[in-house]
Amino acid sequence: MKWFHEARFGIYVHFGLYSILGRGEWTMYSERIPPEEYALLADRFLPEKGCAAEWAKAAVSAGAKYMVLTTRHHEGFCLYDSRYSDFTSVKRGPHRDLVREYVDAARKAGLCVGLYYSLLDWRFPGYFDPEKHPESREALVKQAHDQVRELMTEYGKIDLLEYDGGWDADLSEKRDGWARFWRAEELNAMVRRLQPGIIINDRSGTDEDIETPEQVVRAGETRATESCMCIGDSCAWGYTRFNPNWKSSEQLLQYLVQAAQGGGNYLLNIGPDPRGHVRAEELERLQALGRWLSVNGEAVYGAGRCALIGSSQPGTVDLNLQGPWTRKGNTGYWCIFRWPGKVATAIRIATPVKKVSLLSSGKEFPFHWNEKTGKLTISGLPSLPPDELCSVLKVEFESVPERMKESDLAAWLEE
Ligand code: GLC
Repeated sequence: MKWFHEARFGIYVHFGLYSILGRGEWTMYSERIPPEEYALLADRFLPEKGCAAEWAKAAVSAGAKYMVLTTRHHEGFCLYDSRYSDFTSVKRGPHRDLVREYVDAARKAGLCVGLYYSLLDWRFPGYFDPEKHPESREALVKQAHDQVRELMTEYGKIDLLEYDGGWDADLSEKRDGWARFWRAEELNAMVRRLQPGIIINDRSGTDEDIETPEQVVRAGETRATESCMCIGDSCAWGYTRFNPNWKSSEQLLQYLVQAAQGGGNYLLNIGPDPRGHVRAEELERLQALGRWLSVNGEAVYGAGRCALIGSSQPGTVDLNLQGPWTRKGNTGYWCIFRWPGKVATAIRIATPVKKVSLLSSGKEFPFHWNEKTGKLTISGLPSLPPDELCSVLKVEFESVPERMKESDLAAWLEE
């Protein structure tokens, strides 16, 4: 898990036949398009050469450290050369192994490589009604085992495997029911045998290494989390041609910092257009995050939980209205999204402060820490926010910063 915690930020890529339709990756099912009709899209799927390199370049420009590509989504179309299916980008459409292009491009760009694989495949009646179609069910589960084995053997070292679609179609089962359906223990034992050191998510029904909450940032209490999110406000991950409400770069950065603050990762999604290009609205936001991280990355990469008061949810009112803290060792990074002006005040600081500086410039600022009240006053700050998106005050403490207990809530009235 070491690289994963160091990384904190990854880019998700949803790309498949659904990208042609431009209505999100659930279109086949949500519009109940019969498989034979849907399959015709395969011959119209003609991504431009070099699209994988474009995704990797976008991820690097964002300051991300890894990527995850949908090698096969619920529609069943493989972006790779599978011996177990004719419905692939090698046998149809571009006649290219896009997974191969992607892993090569990601590695060349110095990114860790993640593969997403949907267990469920809407083309199988045995998925929707396993009792009525036991043979189809068996074929579906066998397909999953065979195809995951291919992905784990044909593409060199894979750092991360993200299952999806482990749930049953009528949502009546709990996670152990999914695990039984997919024979997840056996599946994951095979994956670990083939790829020692791989990180696996929990969506096949067994817990494995990480949780992957969607469209929210959550901190795992006991296990690592990777919060995955779209840039647009719809819950569609695949290319959505008309998608009016884009999250702002400030908002996306708040989510990233919030994930780091909870000791987890942020997996931000892009849905390339039918030709595989990253759309401008997404690229400009990724680049804004990258510009910020190139200067302030220390506050995020490898950083984790800080005991000091910080806003735990963007948009919620907390006692610290300026922004959350992350921490590395004895250093706290106060990520100030709402710049207070010339003086910044933090409260309930129990640990002596040694030094305060602006992370982006190294400029030091005078401060006063009141040992008795726990109030830290930083002065001489510029009246306008010094950095775009978020300005980080790096606060070096004498030891790991602790939050001061407040046993008498009225005490401050008397000071
Ligand atoms: C889901 C959706 C899906 C998307 C994914 C992202 O559960 O079914 O379309 O790919 O999560 O994490």
